[in-house]
Amino acid sequence: MSSKTTLITGIGSLVTNDPGQGGGPLGLLADAAVVIDGDRVAWVGPTGRAPAADERFEAEGRALLPGFVDSHAHLVFAGDRTAEFNARMSGQSYTAGGIRTTVAATRAASDAELEANLAGFVREALRQGTTTIECKSGYGLTVEDEARALRIAARHTPETTYLGAHIVAPEYAEDPAGYVELVTGEMLDACAPHARWVDVFCEKGAFDGDQARAVLTAGIEKGLTPRVHANQLTYGPGVQLAVELGAASADHCTHLTDEDVAALAGSATVATLLPGAEFSTRAEYPSGRRLLDAGAVVALSTDCNPGSSFTSSMAFCIAVAVREMGMTPDEAVWAATAGGAHALRRTDVGTVAVGARADLLLLDAPSHVHLAYRPGVPLTAAVWRAGVREV
Ligand code: NIG
Ligand code: FE
Repeated sequence: MSSKTTLITGIGSLVTNDPGQGGGPLGLLADAAVVIDGDRVAWVGPTGRAPAADERFEAEGRALLPGFVDSHAHLVFAGDRTAEFNARMSGQSYTAGGIRTTVAATRAASDAELEANLAGFVREALRQGTTTIECKSGYGLTVEDEARALRIAARHTPETTYLGAHIVAPEYAEDPAGYVELVTGEMLDACAPHARWVDVFCEKGAFDGDQARAVLTAGIEKGLTPRVHANQLTYGPGVQLAVELGAASADHCTHLTDEDVAALAGSATVATLLPGAEFSTRAEYPSGRRLLDAGAVVALSTDCNPGSSFTSSMAFCIAVAVREMGMTPDEAVWAATAGGAHALRRTDVGTVAVGARADLLLLDAPSHVHLAYRPGVPLTAAVWRAGVREV
C-alpha cells in the first residue's frame, strides 16, 4: 500500500453488492471491516482479520454500504416550479409543457448562477450519500444553451447526458422536424464533446418514435451511448426503441406492456425507475416487482428536476419503491447502488470490493433496511467519495 490508508472497523452490517462474499445478492457481511487506500477499496473482510492502516475509523456497529449511484438527474437549471406543483396537488395534471417554464428561466441565467445551482444540488445529494450522479442538459434548447449546460455539468460529473430533445424548443413549435434537424446536427456537434450519453424524451407532447430514433442514432454516430426517457406518461415505443438500439437504460418505465417487460428482461438495457416522478405528479407507480420477476435489471434514481421530481434523496426513492412498487428492501438498496452503476455501465462504483472506488455511505442505523424502515429520517453518518471523507 502506497497512499494513505484508512481502516473502517466494527461495521455491523456491510453491503458489498459482491455475490462472491455470500450473503445473497447484497453480499452482506456482519462485523466487517474495510480498508481504503487512496481513492480505492484495498481490503474487505471480517473485523478480526483486518490489517493495520494509517488511520482507524470505528463504525460502532452501524451499517456501511456503497455510495448511492443516481443515474438520472436534471440539475442544470434556474428557477423553480412551486406554483405548478401546488396547482397539481390541487387537482391539475402534469404535462411535458411545464418544461418550457424552466427553459425560460435557464436561458436567462448566467453561467455562474447555473453552476452554483448545480454544485449546490451535487452537494445536497452527497450529504445524503450519493457519490455518483448523472446530469442531463435539456433546459436550454438552443445550440449555445445546451452546450453551456453540458460544459458546466462536465466540471462536476463525468456522467453527462445530451438531452437537447427534451421538448421541441418554443421557437420551433410550428416546425418540429426543423428542431430534430438542429438536435441531430449543429446542436449535437456543439454538445457531443462534453457528453457521454444521448437521451430523448420519447412521449406524447415531446418526441415520437421516429423522431426519437433519429436523435439517438445521430448521437450514436457521434460516439455517445443512448439512454431514453421512455413510457413515462403513456404507453409508447420508447422502451422497445431503447432495447433495439442497445441503450444503457430505459428510464421511467411507468406504462409497460408485457412485450415491453419481456424486451427489457431479454436485454442488457436497465429499467430505471423514478418514484419521485410519480410521487410529485400524483401518478401511478411502476411495478418494480413485475420487472424483477421477469428478470430485468432494475435501477432506482431520483430524476431530480424542478418540474416532476424535485428530490435529491435516494433514501426517499428506496422507501417509496419498497412501500409502493413491490420491491424488497434488499432489492431497492441494490437498485439504488449496483443498479445505478449498471445503468451507467460503471464497474468501479456501486460495490464495496477490492479495487472499487472508495465511495462509502455509513448509516446512523444498524442495517440498510432502515432506509425503508425509517422513511424521511436523515440517516447519513458519514460519506467517503473516492476515499475522501466528505460528510
Ligand atoms: O424526467 N420527463 C421528462 N423530463 C423530466 C421532467 C422535466 C420537467 O418537468 O421539467 C422527467 O420527469
Ligand atoms: Fe428525467
